[in-house]
Amino acid sequence: MSLLRLDKFLADAGLGTRSQVKLLLKKGLVTVNGEAAKRPEEKVDPEADRIACEGVLLSCREFYYYMLNKPAGYVSATDDNTAPTVLSLLKDAPGRDLFPVGRLDKDTEGLLLVTNDGPLAHRLLSPRQHVDKTYLVKAAGTVTAGDLARLEGGIDIGEKAPTLPAKARLLAPQTDAAPQTHPLPETGGGQETSLVELTIHEGKFHQVKRMFQAIGHPVLYLKRISMGSLVLDESLAPGAFRALTGDEVASLKHF
Ligand code: URA
Repeated sequence: MSLLRLDKFLADAGLGTRSQVKLLLKKGLVTVNGEAAKRPEEKVDPEADRIACEGVLLSCREFYYYMLNKPAGYVSATDDNTAPTVLSLLKDAPGRDLFPVGRLDKDTEGLLLVTNDGPLAHRLLSPRQHVDKTYLVKAAGTVTAGDLARLEGGIDIGEKAPTLPAKARLLAPQTDAAPQTHPLPETGGGQETSLVELTIHEGKFHQVKRMFQAIGHPVLYLKRISMGSLVLDESLAPGAFRALTGDEVASLKHF
């Protein structure tokens, strides 16, 4: 994360000389993340902080990066006629031409990167890069060690080739014993369920659901918790988003 003095940031953004900028600060016209900022020496992170003068967001940045905790019921698209889009959740976020990097199904929750950095999105989605994506999967029935081995070894989901080797870990045979860091919604019915953490290195259409279908344990609930180096911030409620930190952006770019 690279921090800058606020007066330098404002001067670089074209608001005047350092002394003109000091005057704006003194008058309380500048806000950082919604709070009036008066100290010229205050340190800001232009990658993460929202800096505005008289309500107008200032930016010397081309690209914006947000982590969204996608709720169920939203489609991963920029527009759609049938359902609300994930972009409608970021309507107040600065940055033009934002789009979601890849897709989560309408009923899938969790980590979605939203940006306007086309080249980075292209690299993250490229089948040649094999960026790891980790999901929490609540599946019907009792997933056995044999099932985990099948998921890990590569499985026929009706494509030309089996899925690439994956990592599968049983977190809890029943959701009642699920770790509290990832509380999952109840799916009801008192049925046997299993909670599995699955990491895959590719992103075929409905891949996780098709993998679990193939082992006879349909997915009841699906949540993505990481993509490459980016890990879902569990303090974000479903539907909430935040700007990535400078460190998060840097490590995504150097995966
Ligand atoms: N795999 C799926 O089946 N659905 C998703 O939303 C993501 C991965």
